[in-house]
Amino acid sequence: MSSQIKQRNVTLTTLIDIKNRGEKFACLTAYDACFASILSEAGIEVILVGDSLGMVLQGHDSTLPVTMADMIYHMQCVKRGNRGSLLMADLPFMSYSSETQTLENAAALMRAGAHMVKLEGGAWIANTTHLLSERGMPVCAHMGLTPQSVNRIGGFHVQGRDTQQAQSIIEEASLLQDAGASILLLECVPRDLARTITDTLEIPVIGIGAGPDTTAQIMVLHDALGVSPITPKFVKNFLVDSQNGIPGAIENFVQAVKDKSFPADEHCFN
Ligand code: KIV
Repeated sequence: MSSQIKQRNVTLTTLIDIKNRGEKFACLTAYDACFASILSEAGIEVILVGDSLGMVLQGHDSTLPVTMADMIYHMQCVKRGNRGSLLMADLPFMSYSSETQTLENAAALMRAGAHMVKLEGGAWIANTTHLLSERGMPVCAHMGLTPQSVNRIGGFHVQGRDTQQAQSIIEEASLLQDAGASILLLECVPRDLARTITDTLEIPVIGIGAGPDTTAQIMVLHDALGVSPITPKFVKNFLVDSQNGIPGAIENFVQAVKDKSFPADEHCFN
């Protein structure tokens, strides 16, 4: 591993400053030390230890089987490789059902190295968001397509296409900001809806399949490297055009997010 450090420690303040300057920040998932090191040295501001590991590492067809033990293990690996990125960890399926369970599990992820936890949901996670942020555990609220609810929403589909659903996503996003969420992540929503929410909220908004107007972009690492078995519309393989293998692909992703060339029209839902 190279010991060259390209960025200072990224904090929430760094991300807010980037937003206030009208610039973009770049996020990717990672699940091990080696990739964490490559990502942070390539300038990725936020590394997510996502429960997508259930699909891309473990081969499940959803994120539901992922456990707290899995998340803690991968968080510890990523922490060892990290060279200054902000580390975010998913609270996995059914790990934030009661107050006590939520606090214990979020604290376990923070002790394992996370700087922030991510949880999926709308208005119903407002109290949980408040509970955690009040106790010093920053929260990223994940809205739009929430993969832990795949069985309720009937598949991995774009959310917020009709006016009523779009309006409730807008209202619930504000509610979660007011409850103390530090970041909002929007997955698979129409571009216009993501732009409205990004313009309305004060906190940074990270998008995936949400168009180019959010404060930041995130992708699953395996999608960005073209090794996932399925390729959703919003995914781009950054390895094919890289002159420098995987580090070059990650640097190209960072550059494309910052110069706003990714996502392009072909990656958006309208
Ligand atoms: O688990 C994950 O990797 C995620 C991304 C899809 C944002 O939540």
